[in-house]
Amino acid sequence: MMTARIDSLALIETSCWRELQQAAQQTDHGWRTMVLATVEDGVAQARSVVLREVLADSRELVFYTDARSAKVAQMQAQPVGTLLCWSKDLGWQLRLRVTLQVQTSGLNVSSRWARLKLTPAAQDYLSPLPPGTPVAERYEPERATRDHFAVVMARVLAVDWLELHADGHRRARFDGDGAQWLQP
Ligand SMILES: Cc1cc2nc3c(=O)[nH]c(=O)nc-3n(C[C@H](O)[C@H](O)[C@H](O)COP(=O)(O)O)c2cc1C
Repeated sequence: MMTARIDSLALIETSCWRELQQAAQQTDHGWRTMVLATVEDGVAQARSVVLREVLADSRELVFYTDARSAKVAQMQAQPVGTLLCWSKDLGWQLRLRVTLQVQTSGLNVSSRWARLKLTPAAQDYLSPLPPGTPVAERYEPERATRDHFAVVMARVLAVDWLELHADGHRRARFDGDGAQWLQP
């Protein structure tokens, strides 16, 4: 838990973006793993994703995925979603309303793949079968011929911040209309 409580909405919003930037760097930050919720035929879909980069100036969060995954088709059909994260250390939950853009080619993708392909994590994007394909019990994957790396850019439209605290919970919304305290 934080020792001193920030009581200005502007400072809280700045702190959220600073913590998001730290979360993209620190593997043990509670916000490093987020839940990405998307929509498919009117049904909510959700899964964990790792926060890779934060572009605070353009209010964008960057994720990596397999271009053949179900979430990519969902984002292409309906490019809106919600990102959810919770940090026990901060006592802070964020619910981020986002627009979602999937990129499978171009400099944004090639520059990141150039770095990633030298690491063991590259295997995540080299499977010859799309994620979610049913496989036999002892399936031995063949060598991949190409990668299916995709970059997801999530632009934050609105932030719903919730602080759990022994002295009283607090909640605020930050969006295009400004900042507003809310009843938790
Ligand atoms: C801790 C954790 C982190 C994950 N990070 C990612 C990620 O960064 N990108 C990704 O595509 N899948 C990630 N996954 C796997 C997804 O949660 C999901 O199982 C997979 O992408 C298939 O989702 P879909 O069928 O909705 O596309 C992660 C799973 C866990 C448990």
